[in-house]
Amino acid sequence: MEKKSRGAILITGGAGYIGSHLALKLVAEKYRAVLIDNFSNSKPEVIQSIRALTRQDTPIWEGDVRDQSLLEDCIRRYEIESVFHLAGMKSVSESVSNPTEYYDNNVIGALCVIKAMQTVGIKKILFSSSATVYGQPLSLPITEAHPATRAESPYGKTKQIIESMLADLAVSEASWEIAVLRYFNPVGAHPSGKLGEDPFGLPGNLLPIVVGAARGALPEVIVYGNDYDTSDGTGVRDYVHVMDLVAGHLAAHEFVSQHGGIHHWNLGTGTGHSVLEVINTFETATGVTVPWRFGPRRSGDVATSYADPSKAAKELDWRADKDLKDMVLDSWRWQVREQD
Ligand code: WQD
Repeated sequence: MEKKSRGAILITGGAGYIGSHLALKLVAEKYRAVLIDNFSNSKPEVIQSIRALTRQDTPIWEGDVRDQSLLEDCIRRYEIESVFHLAGMKSVSESVSNPTEYYDNNVIGALCVIKAMQTVGIKKILFSSSATVYGQPLSLPITEAHPATRAESPYGKTKQIIESMLADLAVSEASWEIAVLRYFNPVGAHPSGKLGEDPFGLPGNLLPIVVGAARGALPEVIVYGNDYDTSDGTGVRDYVHVMDLVAGHLAAHEFVSQHGGIHHWNLGTGTGHSVLEVINTFETATGVTVPWRFGPRRSGDVATSYADPSKAAKELDWRADKDLKDMVLDSWRWQVREQD
């Protein structure tokens, strides 16, 4: 049965990795997706891909979320009902060397989004947070009850501060509907191969580096440490496919629309995979050899991090469907197709 069309949703950072995949999902679910992006870490070509894949003329405004009046104009122009706030800088290492840029972009940016929403009078926001707020895990798997003010990098601290802002907002104005989504390790790409992670400069995360080394764009993967207390000595993370991640956003949006208040969910699979498992899974699935070698630990890395996703399963009826093989194959398809 044809789904009836739904309200308009503004995605800040809508041309980014998660944002662009979210736009596809929203349109597929008959929402009107409106994007705003400053293209500091995304390319305008992404918009063509979104429009081609959705066969819709998805509106995109070029602008910075710190431009509060631009946000207000956009919200009014499209009668935005909810804001999915994904715009932000996200490199742990870059945040250590340039903390003020991170506090300005991420914290001031989020504040401007909230104030623009207050000015116009809309009160439904989903925030892209991160498992990095848990810091070195005190217990595993990590539940939403785990202390969430233990970030060690300026990047992670910006996520913490924004979570605090939203918590205080929920207390001051009970009519706000707020979802805080703590992503574990987003990876993968749209199965079409026409959309994927495409940051400026060298990738910082494991899977894009593995794919880059596999296609010869990078000389090799340096495996950061082989003496962690894990099955094979290498770091363990909870990789979650970007398509599963964006489905979690819609489920969270439905929930806060019905229940109101502020709610937090871990978006992860509940399964951890080591660095060597990721490399081996990639090689087995693609038949392509990945050049790699062991190197020293990267400072700030935790040994093991993976989610307890049962709160999202219980409250949102959300579970990650895609496994590591799907993730590596979709990432590879995106990289290879991109070279055509
Ligand atoms: C994963 C594993 C590394 C690169 C960070 C942020 C998180 C989110 C995702 C934004 C670790 C190992 C990596 C390499 C390696 N950020 N590794 N060689 O650090 O878990 O999470 O990125 O969305 O908020 O904290 O992700 O992909 O950098 O590392 O051995 O060249 O791969 O040591 O064990 P991380 P990552």
